[in-house]
Amino acid sequence: MSRRFDGKVALVTGGAKGIGRATVEAFSAEGAAVVIADIDAAEGEALAQALPRAIFVPTDVTKMTDAERVVRVAVETFGGLDILFSNAGIVMYSLIENVTEEHYEREMGVNFKGHVWMCKYAIPAMRRRGGGAIVCTSSVQALSTQTTVAIYAASKAATLAMTKAIAQDHAHENIRVNAILPGSVDTPMLRNAARALNPDDVEGTIASWGRMHPIGRVITAQDVAKLVLFLCSDDASALTGASYLVDGGLMAKLPVTLPD
Ligand SMILES: NC(=O)c1ccc[n+]([C@@H]2O[C@H](COP(=O)([O-])OP(=O)(O)OC[C@H]3O[C@@H](n4cnc5c(N)ncnc54)[C@H](O)[C@@H]3O)[C@@H](O)[C@H]2O)c1
Repeated sequence: MSRRFDGKVALVTGGAKGIGRATVEAFSAEGAAVVIADIDAAEGEALAQALPRAIFVPTDVTKMTDAERVVRVAVETFGGLDILFSNAGIVMYSLIENVTEEHYEREMGVNFKGHVWMCKYAIPAMRRRGGGAIVCTSSVQALSTQTTVAIYAASKAATLAMTKAIAQDHAHENIRVNAILPGSVDTPMLRNAARALNPDDVEGTIASWGRMHPIGRVITAQDVAKLVLFLCSDDASALTGASYLVDGGLMAKLPVTLPD
């Protein structure tokens, strides 16, 4: 096992479950001290207890004060901050005519405003370390969407635009900013969607979504974590302001089939 992150401090939002959790585990396995920022205290605390040099900080990324606090606690606890994986996200399905003010504020709040507040406080801390790496979680739905996800898709596209702009502003300070665009990833979020659609056959529903991806399966959270770690590693020192698909070929595929 390589130890690319010995001596580094990584902060992961949405780190208690799903993609965030797999990334927390991967950073920890490669030597990083890890700060788990999430609203799920039970899962977050349990994960932190199971890892060396990991803490859980209850954090609602929609709140600027929570973002300030978690970055401050990271610096106070581990001496600085090198990596931010800004990943917390939610999906709420609705036609636009049924979107309420509360829905809009919540979904844009977690999926977009969360990146704003986390970057706002992480960047000055990274500057004090002489540089850093930020990865924001977007989605293939920033590029091409299914039905009833207007606000989700918009929040993910806004994330791509902001990633490019922040990368411009901070490249000279050795702070790199990239985005990732996952396809369907087997996490609690995906399983909840499968359960809502077909409570009697969650596994079959996920397998059928997997067959829509050219690789024939859905993405694992560990697949995504590997990309995030690469983007945060020294091997990616020339990469900034860009977005990376981790989608099993989904975006390369037209929904056209030819007879065998
Ligand atoms: N699962 C997929 O198929 C998929 C595909 C593309 C993109 N994504 C994106 O990946 C990211 C992670 O998704 P996932 O599938 O792991 O979801 P998940 O629901 O399995 O995990 C998300 C985590 O974020 C936390 N969270 C929710 N609201 C929060 C808030 N306000 N503040 C802090 N933490 C909060 C949850 O408690 C949970 O631990 C999201 O941004 C999501 O939009 C997921």
